[in-house]
Amino acid sequence: MKVVIIGAQWGDEGKGKIVDYLAEDAKYVVRYSGGPNAGHTIVVDGKQFALHQVPSGILYPEKKVFLGAGMVIDPEALFNELAMLKENGINWEGRVFISDRAHLILPKYRSMDKERDASRKRPIGTTGRGIGIAYSEKSHRDGLRLADLDWKEKIADLDAEDLDYLNKYRDQLLSMRVDLTSKMWEYRKDNILFEGAQGAMLDIDSGTYPYVSSGASCAAGAATGCGIGPHDLDHILGVFKAYETRVGNGPMPTEFNETSEGELCQYVRDTGREYGVTTGRARRCGYLDLVALRYACRVNSLDSLVLTHLDIYDEMDQIEACVAYDINGKIVTDFPANVDELNAAKPVLQKFQGWKASLKECRSYKKLPKNARAYVEFIEDYTGTPVGIISVGYERDETFVRKNPWKK
Ligand code: IMO
Ligand code: MG
Repeated sequence: MKVVIIGAQWGDEGKGKIVDYLAEDAKYVVRYSGGPNAGHTIVVDGKQFALHQVPSGILYPEKKVFLGAGMVIDPEALFNELAMLKENGINWEGRVFISDRAHLILPKYRSMDKERDASRKRPIGTTGRGIGIAYSEKSHRDGLRLADLDWKEKIADLDAEDLDYLNKYRDQLLSMRVDLTSKMWEYRKDNILFEGAQGAMLDIDSGTYPYVSSGASCAAGAATGCGIGPHDLDHILGVFKAYETRVGNGPMPTEFNETSEGELCQYVRDTGREYGVTTGRARRCGYLDLVALRYACRVNSLDSLVLTHLDIYDEMDQIEACVAYDINGKIVTDFPANVDELNAAKPVLQKFQGWKASLKECRSYKKLPKNARAYVEFIEDYTGTPVGIISVGYERDETFVRKNPWKK
């Protein structure tokens, strides 16, 4: 079985935790897009790990993990991350492999990324990790892939600084090199988990362009980013939070108003620990946006949803979620492409009764308070997609499954 996990919002949905949770039943974990812009947090036995490029299956001692062709890889940051894992007792040697078609980020891309964003009339608020530069070099057909480290003419064209830098990592990078398509074929009878980064709304094609990242964070990216075809993807899961967050700039129709909803915003931000893993920035917070979520379900053919952070609402009397946009007096339920329309959109909110109980110990759907189930079932009806997994805390085991994605 091949199971794909994507973010169904603007990133930071809890993908890392869910990949780590589902990785127990996978033999291999493959990350298919993005690079060091991602920040995937995993908490095991009270110990927190923040992963940026290494797939979230690494914490299991026996799993092999792969960095896919759809990724842009910063070698320096990668080896720092691996050193951090080693210091924390995670032996990664012999378990981490990189697609020979993955692109590399050079140090100068980071400053180019920051300068370019600062010079934009409407900055995107990138993570400054060189992501957009690496993907545009790739599209220009001037990028540098892992396999190219063995292409003599290409290497001869590099300037001295880049060459010195790459020489530091060359042997180690090449020792991790694999032909991912042939590996995926070799492992075709095994369980493989595909880990997305960012989210559907940050995808270069389907997201809120130009306020997006540069990779293919949608489900289709799992195929191209791992050297397989879309027929091979058996189950596609979209992870979403019980509310909405976004980092950086760009439209967010359900964002809390910092003045009139300031208290609610701060409550959600603090209770949900909504501060960036990669940049430390306070995340923008808002009501769950069901218009955007249903769009994400459709654009990714999601088989099921994973709901995280439901426990953030434990103490609230009432919960609200956005079921339509009011755009200059017009009620809209299809997610618009136009930035002016998205910026003008006012959320039409539906109210739900709170459950006023802790969900932390809850390990089955039956045990969820009635009002929490009503919230979940409304989301399922609205999106036409079942909620198969629910997370009620940060720890690996604070999770329960209604529909196991590994079973057909
Ligand atoms: P994970 O995988 C949230 C956002 C940045 C910025 C925009 C473009 O942890 O969910 P980039 O540096 O990629 O060119 O920035 O995309 N962004 C993310 N936001 N989670 C992420 O990853 C993100 N990766 C990029 O904040 O607005
Ligand atoms: Mg993140």
